[in-house]
Amino acid sequence: MTPATQPRVIIFDTTLRDGEQSPGATMTHEEKLEIASLLDEMGVDVIEAGFPIASEGDFAAVSEIAKRSKNSTICGLSRANYKDIDRCWEAVRHAASPRIHTFIGTSPLHRAIPNLTMDEMAERIHDTVTHARNLCDNVQWSAMDATRTEHDYLCRVVEIAIKAGATTINIPDTVGYTAPRESADLIAMLLNRVPGADKVIFATHCHNDLGMATANALAAVDAGARQIECTINGLGERAGNTALEEVVMAMKVRNDIMPYRTGIDTTKIMNLSRRVSSVSGFAVQFNKAIVGKNAFLHESGIHQDGVLKNVETFEIMKPADIGLTAKNIAMGKHSGRAALRAKLKELGYELADNQLNDVFVRFKALADRKKEVYDDDLIALVADEQTNDAHEFLQLKKLRVVCGTEGPQEADMVLSIDGVDHHIDATGDGPVDAAFNCVKMLFPHQARLEIYQVHAVTEGTDAQATVSVRLQEDGRIVNGSSADTDTIVASAKAYINALNKLIVRRTKSAPGDDLKSVNYKDAS
Ligand code: KIV
Ligand code: ZN
Repeated sequence: MTPATQPRVIIFDTTLRDGEQSPGATMTHEEKLEIASLLDEMGVDVIEAGFPIASEGDFAAVSEIAKRSKNSTICGLSRANYKDIDRCWEAVRHAASPRIHTFIGTSPLHRAIPNLTMDEMAERIHDTVTHARNLCDNVQWSAMDATRTEHDYLCRVVEIAIKAGATTINIPDTVGYTAPRESADLIAMLLNRVPGADKVIFATHCHNDLGMATANALAAVDAGARQIECTINGLGERAGNTALEEVVMAMKVRNDIMPYRTGIDTTKIMNLSRRVSSVSGFAVQFNKAIVGKNAFLHESGIHQDGVLKNVETFEIMKPADIGLTAKNIAMGKHSGRAALRAKLKELGYELADNQLNDVFVRFKALADRKKEVYDDDLIALVADEQTNDAHEFLQLKKLRVVCGTEGPQEADMVLSIDGVDHHIDATGDGPVDAAFNCVKMLFPHQARLEIYQVHAVTEGTDAQATVSVRLQEDGRIVNGSSADTDTIVASAKAYINALNKLIVRRTKSAPGDDLKSVNYKDAS
């Protein structure tokens, strides 16, 4: 089979919906638009842009992404009731190619929550899919927790959804419970038993709780599924989702045993991975397949020797296949704006003039402090510029700390709050604690610090540090991050970045999950 005649697998990216649901991964409106446009350019077939009824913000983001999308189908999520579906349609209808996605939990555990009998749930599926199909020609229906649903009942409800007009049937492994053989058998069973199954696309949506999401998704494709639902970096609740870069590269590198094609331009993978990591605040683990920092590093003598003689001895794909350029000394303090623009373009960043100006100023300051500015330094710098916006409510203006063997450590800070500068000093158990105490005194809050992590971007004692901070307040979780050659400054900025996100989150409300109290036929 030539690649052109191989079955085409639809890539459905849900970074902006399922990915964004992971604790603390909330993205701003602008960040969502940017990620959506990168996904569109990369060749993702369907972008699940959000859950329109969840908040005004989600609705606005899905509508705007729908208006702007050039190639991708834009999909929104809705529960199994008319109000959700109407709201979803209001948002996605602006797209050249819109899709409504509606779902309900079909397993015994999930049926018990709205307290529906099998017959009642079957009727609701029929009615809600029919309602969605009356609005939109492209309707996806998902049987949440399908892998723990009785087979006979799953066949029954899938048949109902198909008859009611669903064009894609999604079979989620919601809790990451299945294994590759079972995942394949389930799709094969549905294709064999359900009348009309050959007229629709079957999708696989796997969570990674047992570390098998990618394997389960590919097994489902082997059995006949033709849509993979996935996220960049595998972002998602708990252990995350199937990672887009893993399934796409697996089908490319092992096309001999997985002869399927996608429309993805794999050279865009690395850039998307970096952007999603930066806007979600979820650092990519160093040994993560495909996009981890170590994925193409060879440290052991035998490996290095082999790679130098023939790169294929220890590398099954080329770094360039995922858009990873050679790691070299990027720039020095004499490099100009045009060189910086060209270098950033090579790294996948196309900045507007005003953004480039800001990054240039910071690059010069960094080049003054640091002899060699590497690609990773520039990436951290741009990411920091994009995350720590100058128009934020809280902004660090100045920080000096006194630290050393003789405590207590002290910090002296100027923090701008809503455009007004405030000055304070505080002591603490270490310089980071002292700096955080300054912020707490100037901007009192109840948020609890759950995670504080520091990573060096490159080697050397003059390396930039990237700091990630997670805060929790009344069940709301936010992640903040920042980079600087001064670890304490990066820490204070990451803390402030998380607080800025929290301030935004305080104004958002989530939808009630209580389906019992909703008459599912009530329209909006
Ligand atoms: O994991 C899941 O079941 C989901 C559904 C909403 C499709 O994300
Ligand atoms: Zn999911």
